[in-house]
Amino acid sequence: MKLWEGRFSGSLDPLAARLNDSLPVDQRLAAVDVAGSQAWARALARAGVVSWFEASLLVDGLQEVLEELQMGDFVFQPGDEDIHTAVERRLGELIGPLAGKLHTGRSRNDQVATDFRLWMSGILPRMHFLLAELQETLVDRADRDLGVILPGYTHYQQAQPLLLSHWWLSHFWSLERDRERLADLEKRLCQMPLGSGALAGTGFPIDRFSLAADLGFDAPAPNSLDAISDRDFVVEFLFWAALVGVHLSRLAEALILYSTAEFGYLTLADAYSTGSSLMPQKKNPDPLELTRGKSAELLGRLTAMLATLKGLPSAYDKDLQEDKAQVFAAADLIALLLPVMSGAIATLEAHPERMRSALNCTILATDLADYLVERGVPFRKAHQAVGAAVRKAEELRIALTDLPLEEWQAIQPAFGPDLFLAFDPERALARRAAYGGTAPEAVAVQLEEARARLAASG
Ligand code: ARG
Repeated sequence: MKLWEGRFSGSLDPLAARLNDSLPVDQRLAAVDVAGSQAWARALARAGVVSWFEASLLVDGLQEVLEELQMGDFVFQPGDEDIHTAVERRLGELIGPLAGKLHTGRSRNDQVATDFRLWMSGILPRMHFLLAELQETLVDRADRDLGVILPGYTHYQQAQPLLLSHWWLSHFWSLERDRERLADLEKRLCQMPLGSGALAGTGFPIDRFSLAADLGFDAPAPNSLDAISDRDFVVEFLFWAALVGVHLSRLAEALILYSTAEFGYLTLADAYSTGSSLMPQKKNPDPLELTRGKSAELLGRLTAMLATLKGLPSAYDKDLQEDKAQVFAAADLIALLLPVMSGAIATLEAHPERMRSALNCTILATDLADYLVERGVPFRKAHQAVGAAVRKAEELRIALTDLPLEEWQAIQPAFGPDLFLAFDPERALARRAAYGGTAPEAVAVQLEEARARLAASG
């Protein structure tokens, strides 16, 4: 028995039915579908379309359906093309023909758009929590590793020294923006499509404002046509997930690199490493590699959804049914990747002495240029002079620190014997004390700010 079979004399081809059915995916909407229908039954009563007694039978019947679904007692039938159909079919079996009044003035178009928004609102707190948990791990790590210095890289070349805590916190802030994006998405999620009918609005005098309040939405959507076709919230969620994936992937890539024998800055815990079936010595960073690998899937899901939408005129088209599979899969993946990253970071061992000994003395070249600036040399000239010193040391095949004072002064007379004091990573760090810099005092301020952000969001 199809919801729409009245005008049909033949039945759907079995393979076409398989293509059409969304039940395997949209079963996850069961609880919100029932909640939406219960609120709709009350709205119908408020509008005088059904009596309050009928509404209470509908609400109770739906509750029974929900309990069956939750207990695993619900038996899906081959004709149940989606969760909406299944719930209504079962309601009819439980309460009889009155069930046929539930869908009055409603369409699966406004129903599914409402369900999906309710479902997404329901998972956002967990997404917030998992992001915050990883942020907390980074803050703890930054706290624990205070004082550790590592080479900072640009283009994978040594650039300037950094505090390891500063490096950990750099990843805190990208996740903080991810949390802000979630909060922003929430603002648009709380508009209710229900009561928009198939596209033109409901034909009954439904008070959509009290219906919205009943379901916990801020307001009803102001345009029925937009309400049933809008999937911006889906795209926003998928973009959010894709960007979280990119952030995790970049972090994973750095951790993988730093845990190689060549770098040796970190050792991953056994709990976040796997071995090789052939090479007995191997300890591979598979969980991090998969974080990097699976983030590609998240980009794909965003692209797929945007591609689905771009060709659709306004109103409902069946293509839209594909939205849920993308979001469910993205949400499940994020819920796996975030705690794994958290665990990997919390348990890895840092090797400060390896980071320290990897510092090449040329990593302080900027500080030598700044030294000249402090003696009145314009920065451009200072940059050139230090560059010439680096080249000279390279020519003489000696370390920059071993270049004799006469050579420095031949290049630029403003160099004095105290230039060698600039070859001190601690000094280089301390000089970067402006807000947001890597000086220990600036990082302490940053750490406090990060903690305050976490505390403010509970
Ligand atoms: N299963 C459908 C979906 O997820 C429900 C809406 C069906 N609407 C329709 N006009 N056929 O999109």
